[in-house]
Amino acid sequence: MLQKVYDWVDERLDITPLWRDIADHEVPEHVNPAHHFSAFVYCFGGMTFFVVVIQILSGMFLTMYYVPDIIHAYESVYYLQNEVTHGMIVRGMHHWGASLVIVMMFLHTLRVFFTGSYKKPRELNWVVGVLLFFVILALGFTGYLLPWDMKAYFATVVGLEIAEAAPFVGEFARILMAGGDIIGAQTLARFFAIHVFFLPGALLGLLGAHFFMIRKQGISGPL
Ligand code: HEM
Repeated sequence: MLQKVYDWVDERLDITPLWRDIADHEVPEHVNPAHHFSAFVYCFGGMTFFVVVIQILSGMFLTMYYVPDIIHAYESVYYLQNEVTHGMIVRGMHHWGASLVIVMMFLHTLRVFFTGSYKKPRELNWVVGVLLFFVILALGFTGYLLPWDMKAYFATVVGLEIAEAAPFVGEFARILMAGGDIIGAQTLARFFAIHVFFLPGALLGLLGAHFFMIRKQGISGPL
């Protein structure tokens, strides 16, 4: 039955070459830990991506319960954590994943750095990588405010004070991020929108560029 559906679509759209191109692409020997164990450092990028996928999936489920306004945010998270079936697991995955993705991304960056993989012809992919780095950090920063508890509030106070310390543009940056003079309703709404729409959109675009270039150039060879 499934085969018939597949054949029907394939006859009309010729989809086989699309996935064959990916499925038949062999893992190069020098990045395969099954061949040399030390090649596991080449897996850090893929492991970072794996955690990113977990973050996106768990985050989508969180939005089914999370209410992004200052009256309900804290209670909606409390309810999810303590009342909803498996809510604790979903929130736990997103909470711990947020730290793990940064650790994995950092290890991946170190691998790329110490194998000199940022050099010609991969300079552009390093630049995309740096943008990915900031997007992931910004996701961590904006997500931290969303539970709207004391820790969230004061972490954001500190973050905005750091932004304000920037020369010339500091005050403007703080007001732009907070959406006004204080950390309040506008800040939460803004951080929520940035956390679930703006940054994930940028992340997907950048990852597309990252993977396109990796496929085009191959993963760098042995030292
Ligand atoms: C969400 C974050 C990121 C993900 C999911 C990701 C994913 C990947 C993957 C799967 C690869 C293939 C090789 C490997 O796995 O090591 C790769 C390669 C690469 N990445 Fe990333 N990456 C991320 C962030 C970064 C950052 C922060 C940098 C640098 C600032 C960077 C620079 C590069 C470069 C230059 C390559 C090519 C390396 C080579 O050919 O040896 N990436 N990335």
